Amino acid sequence: MTQDELKQQVAAAALTHVPHGEIIGVGTGSTVNFFIDALAGIKDRIKGAVSSSERSTERMRAHGITVVDLNEVEKLSVYVDGADEIDPSGAMIKGGGGALTREKIIAEAAERFICIVDQSKLVPVLGKFPLPVEVVPMARELVTRRLRALGGDPRERSGYITDNGNLILDVHGLQIAQPRDFEARVNQIPGVVTVGLFALRGANVALIGTAEGVQRKD
Ligand code: 5RP
Repeated sequence: MTQDELKQQVAAAALTHVPHGEIIGVGTGSTVNFFIDALAGIKDRIKGAVSSSERSTERMRAHGITVVDLNEVEKLSVYVDGADEIDPSGAMIKGGGGALTREKIIAEAAERFICIVDQSKLVPVLGKFPLPVEVVPMARELVTRRLRALGGDPRERSGYITDNGNLILDVHGLQIAQPRDFEARVNQIPGVVTVGLFALRGANVALIGTAEGVQRKD
């Protein structure tokens, strides 16, 4: 199977986690795009969706899925999103698509995070995929120095501005053995809006697309 077929398979499997008659949280990325396309087939079963990016909003609206503001939502049972890497504890690196801040907000608001990935995203230790950090532009050099002191090699994502008007530093060369501690440390740096490490609030369920079918890890 191709990687896209694995993504499509796992995206379809996530439909069984969509609660009837509720608003659900929807992430961003190529795997989530397959999920949105699949969700369109059952759109009448949900009230609508909260979206983590302008791209996902556009795609859902094109399918006729109602997109609502998170501020209007009291209960969000489920958030479905992809990841760039996921470790055995359910900690993830996210933000390869640049939507990490809104993703983290929705993940925090949701009762359950359902992570949908193909098997290439499984890693024993996070860090081979450069860790995205969203930064207020005036703090770029300060945050760069602090991230270097933590052992990383931050590089500004060229020509990229987030949906929130900030820039992204992609931090290379990390081996994140203690993701919860590392997330807390990066969160402390003034000027950091969001670190794309989802460990303090990791995935509750990982659905993994493999050539042998979808595997589930709780
Ligand atoms: C976007 C994300 C995505 O979930 C992550 O980059 C995975 O994307 P894809 O499904 O395209 O591999 O965090 O900010």
